Amino acid sequence: MHNPKQVAGRRAAEFVENGMAVGLGTGSTVFFTLERLAERVREGLKIRCVPTSIDTENKARVMGIPLVELGKIDALDLTIDGADEIDGAFHMIKGGGGALLREKVVASITRRQIAIVGAEKVVARLGKFPLPIEVVPFAREVIHRALGARGATATLRTGPAGQPYLTDNGNQILDCRFPDGIADPASLELELDRLPGIVETGLFVGLAHVLVIGREDGSVEVRERATALPRAGR
Ligand code: A5P
Repeated sequence: MHNPKQVAGRRAAEFVENGMAVGLGTGSTVFFTLERLAERVREGLKIRCVPTSIDTENKARVMGIPLVELGKIDALDLTIDGADEIDGAFHMIKGGGGALLREKVVASITRRQIAIVGAEKVVARLGKFPLPIEVVPFAREVIHRALGARGATATLRTGPAGQPYLTDNGNQILDCRFPDGIADPASLELELDRLPGIVETGLFVGLAHVLVIGREDGSVEVRERATALPRAGR
């Protein structure tokens, strides 16, 4: 039996070409992409990479993957990142690992975003996985009430000692359940973005171009989105 994350993560690394500026996502699936990229760098691949979290930055550094600051890059050729759920239109829930804000910033300047997942994360409707919402600590209770008024149940993410989990940006995360799932991700993203105090949501609408699905039998399926969707409200 194969690890679906490993087969998807390693396969996605093959999309990277010499000379590219590459966004490095965050999480356990991306870890396998990093491993394969590091092998290719040792074989002579020349790339510059922007990590989406301190965790990925540390791992990439140890593995010898060349890094560059986000501000030094106008656009990224390719970004490879995981997802917590992805639907048929390639809309995603991300942020299970807490890196949603930097992941979305990096995705926003990426020409080709590759989502890498195990097959169980491909869903008909988003929302079984709780939607991570990054909030400034000052506004947390206000946002919590606003989400409750919309019928959602928000839970403050906590760390091992029960303290509020802090993102790389010093913010907190509310993990949010919607009773019937998320029927219209684009509208929900717009609605949530309007609430002051929400820094970013884990809804990634119209951002992924390619979906790489790994399976336990070791096979990999690559799906391409036919048309580029405009991002909601941006
Ligand atoms: C990180 O914040 C997330 O967006 C990850 O990309 C997502 O949670 C997938 O993580 P795994 O690859 O660890 O399942």
